Amino acid sequence: MNTTPSLLHLDSTAGPAGPSVSRQLTALFADTWRDHHGTAGYRYRDLAAEPVPLLGAGYVTLGRRLGEQGTVPPAEVAARVRDASEEREWALTLPLVEEVLAADTVLLGVPMYNFTVPAALKAWIERISFPAAFTDPRTGESLLRDTRVVIVTARGGGYGPGTPREPFDHQAPYLRAYFGDLGVRKENLFLVHAELTRAAAMPALAQFTDLAAGSLAAARDQLLTLATTTPRRPTPALA
Ligand SMILES: Cc1cc2nc3c(=O)[nH]c(=O)nc-3n(C[C@H](O)[C@H](O)[C@H](O)COP(=O)(O)O)c2cc1C
Repeated sequence: MNTTPSLLHLDSTAGPAGPSVSRQLTALFADTWRDHHGTAGYRYRDLAAEPVPLLGAGYVTLGRRLGEQGTVPPAEVAARVRDASEEREWALTLPLVEEVLAADTVLLGVPMYNFTVPAALKAWIERISFPAAFTDPRTGESLLRDTRVVIVTARGGGYGPGTPREPFDHQAPYLRAYFGDLGVRKENLFLVHAELTRAAAMPALAQFTDLAAGSLAAARDQLLTLATTTPRRPTPALA
């Protein structure tokens, strides 16, 4: 069993490193994590700078056929490929799936774009969601049941409980549903929000400057705590 702590760090904002709030916060987590756990298990991917290609027809035909014939683990998919299009699509997919499987913590920086996640992240989500990619072939259980997922959102507005914009939040509920459905356990799924990120720069939002500063400080505190703890594992009696 590989016991080296492993972190897969993904950013998805198109915003550049300096002013990007999600990049600053994921970097804080990653720097702190590396201080505690070393650099050997660290992996970084910038989904905005190096976009994951949108799905092609071969991805769909391959996934659909395996779904009909009985899914197989990722290591056996290559043997089922039938043409160049499917081969190309699987070559684009497998490394991304393997990165997720290798990580005990997945850290995602996610700006809110048009009330949801950016297309750069959605492209990654679509590609890794290959049939049975995260299913244990022996037990049928999710291979991500012990994976910790830390999602850092940055939003220009405020979407907290009871706010007028709460129903517009199609980012956090979507990500909760997605990773929950993949098999990430509720206690291993963390959403950390930095809200009103544009308040200090926009005169129209000046009244929210203190709220924004409080939200950012709380996000930093949460991330510092999460980065210095290790993912929760089931007790041996329950495993
Ligand atoms: C294309 C685009 C769409 C955005 N849409 C929204 C939105 O629907 N709701 C919102 O609250 N903020 C929205 N914003 C503001 C961003 O969520 C905010 O600036 C956030 O801090 C961006 O993350 P970053 O600082 O990591 O780049 C949008 C920004 C951009 C560039």
